[in-house]
Amino acid sequence: MIDNNMHRGPIGVFDSGYGGLTILKELRKKLPELDYLYLGDNARAPYGSRSYDVVYKFTLEAVKYLFGRGCPLVILACNTASAKALRTIQQNDLPAINPANRVLGVIRPTAEIIGNLSSSGTIGIMGTEGTVNSGSYDMEVAKLFPSFKVVSQACPMWAPIVENNEASGPGADYFVDKYVRTLLSQDSTIDTIVLACTHYPLLYPKIRAAVPSSVKVVNQGEIVADSLADYLRRHPEMDSRIARGGRCSYLTTENPDKFNDLARIFLEEPVEVDHVDIL
Ligand code: DGL
Repeated sequence: MIDNNMHRGPIGVFDSGYGGLTILKELRKKLPELDYLYLGDNARAPYGSRSYDVVYKFTLEAVKYLFGRGCPLVILACNTASAKALRTIQQNDLPAINPANRVLGVIRPTAEIIGNLSSSGTIGIMGTEGTVNSGSYDMEVAKLFPSFKVVSQACPMWAPIVENNEASGPGADYFVDKYVRTLLSQDSTIDTIVLACTHYPLLYPKIRAAVPSSVKVVNQGEIVADSLADYLRRHPEMDSRIARGGRCSYLTTENPDKFNDLARIFLEEPVEVDHVDIL
């Protein structure tokens, strides 16, 4: 019998911690037949306030690790890593490590659909300090929709709140209100807010409640899933290298019990994570 999965591998999905699960969930909804290998670098999360060099180094380590586990394609399900490491990895590292493999991020696909979402042409971007200070959204949106205005707000407390399982606790309210108010006070014409950090959908109910109903609040998961489906349609050579068994495995650099508890709540199914040292 021919094993069709013999030379195939799972899609690697990488994030600094739990946030990438918001992307993984939508990938599995859209492309349930594919295999996925999730890696959360929880031991070193959050990445949001770390320097360019450190985020790049950590992300490259994770990408190499996932390639080593047989992933032909890795999605950086993390805006901070996409902003600070993706381009260098694609241009400088990939040709040397494995030119046939691919690494994709979440910023470009999100920027591509922003034009369909806003009527006023003023977009609010909420992300980590790293993502906001990199100017990546400003640049991508300017290329695709030159008439649009991007207004950004760094939310340095949000990812730590999620990593510490406090997203639905009362302590989160203060920081949700604070950053939403500061963003909206910058420009009254903002009609669309992009949650440009994969951790933030876990705070969605609180963010939605803090934002006026006339303003859209957009999660990236579905956008990234649609973009991956489109990418695989356009790249049959990569599509044919992805294993198809509908399996999903989880790896964390931190304590597995803590990961399992939070991931189960979020994904609404039991999760069995393995601890790994990626160095
Ligand atoms: N989830 C990540 C992002 O999309 C990073 C959060 C963090 O580690 O600070 O930016």
